[in-house]
Amino acid sequence: GSLWCVVPAAGRGTRVGGHCPKQYLPLAGRPLIEHTLERLAAHPQIAGLLVTLGADDAHWPGIAELNGKPVLTAAGGAERSDSVLAGIDALPAAVGQNDFVLVHDAARPCVRLDDISRLIERGSARDGGLLGAPLRDTLKRADAAGCSARTEPRDQRWRAFTPQMFRRGQLAAALRKAAGDGRAVSDEAMAMELAGYAPLLVEGAEDNIKVTTATDFPLAAYLLSRTVT
Ligand code: CTP
Ligand code: MG
Repeated sequence: GSLWCVVPAAGRGTRVGGHCPKQYLPLAGRPLIEHTLERLAAHPQIAGLLVTLGADDAHWPGIAELNGKPVLTAAGGAERSDSVLAGIDALPAAVGQNDFVLVHDAARPCVRLDDISRLIERGSARDGGLLGAPLRDTLKRADAAGCSARTEPRDQRWRAFTPQMFRRGQLAAALRKAAGDGRAVSDEAMAMELAGYAPLLVEGAEDNIKVTTATDFPLAAYLLSRTVT
């Protein structure tokens, strides 16, 4: 198949605040990103990985192949959406404009292979979709003093995860349009929404955390150890 996964890995990890970007910090004894890439390469439907790196990245371990699948790199950009678009543009020509492309954060090493399978199966029946989960907690609107001004409805509110999966041409056009309109988009689905699509929400396991702060490392190590892929 020609289902490729773009892996944005050009962030600095400022909220972790480590001596290097979080994707290269040790998780269960190995750089975090290696767990993420190995999981993706282990998925039978993923044909190759395209990793976008920071321009001054001195930590990339130079992986060229995993599980017999090509691992390509490209330069990322200032924002996550820039990195994703650069990755899509750098995909091999064999990935057609109507082919689906996955996008998965380097910072989400605990993604489950069965969730990826469900996203591929359900999303490819439409114009794509994303993994996510309904909100679990009561949601508060804070005022300027940090007090709870009111309680927001929780129904129909979802947290968005990755992978997200869209058609190569449609996603590239949506990301270009958002950038041209000066609209910051925090994920691929937001760019697609602004372009008039309604991406399918596919419920995935809460294991799929985005490692964001230093305390997420032991949690991710635990989740990795127990995840049945
Ligand atoms: N990312 C990227 N290019 C950017 C910013 C982020 O490729 N310009 C990637 C990160 O490397 C990460 C994913 O997008 O894999 C999600 O971003 P986030 O969790 O915000 O990571 P960082 O931006 O590195 O962290 P922080 O915001 O704390 O600096
Ligand atoms: Mg960031």
